[in-house]
Order: sequence, then C-alpha cells, then structure tokens
Amino acid sequence: MQLDMRLSRIIELAPGIREFWLCREDGGELPTYSGGSHVVLSLPLPGGIQRNPYSLLGDPADCNKWRIAVRRQEQSRGGSVWLHDSAQEGQALKVSMPANLFPMARLGRHHVLIAGGIGVTPMLSHARELARLGESFEVHYAHRAPEFGVLADELRTLAGPDLHCYVESRGETIDFSKLLARRPLGTHAYLCGPQGMVEAYHRIASEMGWPDTHVHSERFLAPPPGAPFTVRLAKTGKAIEVRREQSMLEAIESSGVQPPFLCRGGACGQCEMEVLDCDSSLLHNDLFLSQADRDSGRKIMPCVSRVTGGCITVNL
Ligand code: FES
Repeated sequence: MQLDMRLSRIIELAPGIREFWLCREDGGELPTYSGGSHVVLSLPLPGGIQRNPYSLLGDPADCNKWRIAVRRQEQSRGGSVWLHDSAQEGQALKVSMPANLFPMARLGRHHVLIAGGIGVTPMLSHARELARLGESFEVHYAHRAPEFGVLADELRTLAGPDLHCYVESRGETIDFSKLLARRPLGTHAYLCGPQGMVEAYHRIASEMGWPDTHVHSERFLAPPPGAPFTVRLAKTGKAIEVRREQSMLEAIESSGVQPPFLCRGGACGQCEMEVLDCDSSLLHNDLFLSQADRDSGRKIMPCVSRVTGGCITVNL
C-alpha cells in the first residue's frame, strides 16, 4: 500500500545532506512505527519512477510527519541527486507504509547503538524509542568532520552523556575491540554505516565471541547501474527492457506487474525470483543469497541485481 504524501519541509543539515519531512496529502494522521523502520519513496525522475528506501529518523509516535535525511550521492542512479536538486517543498510523492528490518531486541538489557555517517538515521528512531521506554542505551556516532555531525544535538538530548562522537578529521575512530569488550550478558549492539565499517564490526564481534543474535546491522544497497538487458516473464511471455539506470524490479513494476518487496536494498529476501534461463551472466549485488544459491545460477534478487546483457527469463 502506498500513501499520497507531500514534502512539507526541506532542511539543509550540512553540505550534501538534506532532511525531508513528509506529511499526508489529505492532512490525516500517519500510522506510528517502531524504531529502525524505513519507508520507500517513489521518486518521479525524468526517466521514470525510482523507488528508494530511507530510514525514518523522527519520533515513531509522531502521527503528523515522517522524517528522513538523504546524503547526495553523485555516483548513483539519480534518486539522491533529484531529492537535492529538484525536490521542492509541497512536492507530492507516493510513500510506502513503514517496514522494519532492523528492530530492537525487546529482551535486551542494554543497547549499544553505533552510527557511521548518514547511518545515524535509524539510530535516532531507536534512541527515541529506548528513551521513552526507559531502557538502558548508549550511542556511538562517527562522522567525517564536525559539520557532518548532523543530528548529534538531537541524539544528545536523548542519550545525554551516553552519546560519544568520533570525528574522522580529528583522527578519532571507533575501536570495536574496545567498544565491544567486557559487555554484560544481555547487551545487544546495532550498527548502521558504510560497508567497511559493518564488516569490521561483525568480524571483531565474532572474534570476541559475541553471539550472532546480539550483533545487529543494517545496510541497504543501492542497485548499481549497468548494461541494458531484457527480462522475460515466463508466465505471460512479457519481454521488458531494463534501462542502464533502472533496477530489474523497477522495470518489471513499470510494466504493470507488482512483485513483492520490502527493503529494495538486497537485504530482506522478499523479491527473490527463480531464474529459468539467462544468455549472459548474473551480477549478484545482494546481501541475501548464499554462495550456494549464487553458484546454482537459479536465483536472483531483482531489487539490486541484474545481468551483463542479453535476456534473462524469470518464473513470474
Ligand atoms: S526487496 Fe529486499 S532483497 Fe529485494
């Protein structure tokens, strides 16, 4: 289900980082959500609709507006550039209902929230929820330079002295082997940040003996552009062209077919499709399929993955 919404406010947070407020077009109330949730915005780019996921950073109990923040990324398919260069206050947009692939562990006794750069956004909604519930938590926020510590003031009002900032330009970085050491039983850690940071965090936590169930992370991948190709839907025989900057999922949607999805970032597994035939090579970009799945050549996640050209036939 999609809601008719509009951009009610645009705020310049830092060079290349904008915050957007979303309200219902009809002025009605919005549903509440849980900390860590995201929504999918349908962006009206000149080449067609692009659907991108963004974490909600506001108060999960706020029924008047949803808040997101977006970093401008030149080397991407154009969604963030459109939001920075073309989006105006009052702009109408279709927005999905919130979904949560990064929930809080409700039975956790202490929560360590770790953010890298724009990965601060889901940590804000987590921190607001934890503060309201009176739960024990701390926040570690790494960013490139002082001016990129956007939203640190809001985090400080929630976490007080338990907010720790690390400014890369001052040589400050998060030392995971210290941060994760000697934590009492029942501690859960959560990280949202760039790929290298996520990988280091999981590797060090694993080496230190943290159970996987207590080490949480969120990373949405953007579908990379690539060579155009054709996707054929076996059940109807429909052949659909996938353009260079379009994801396979977006191309299928633009033909009127609506496959299931949740994250649109290669993480949830909802959009998995069976490959019946392919006359080129699969380019897997997801975080979901196992190596065995990839090696089989029979599965693809169309929200982020594509093929090198030619034609792929899927069981749809
Ligand atoms: S929609 Fe989540 S993996 Fe594709």
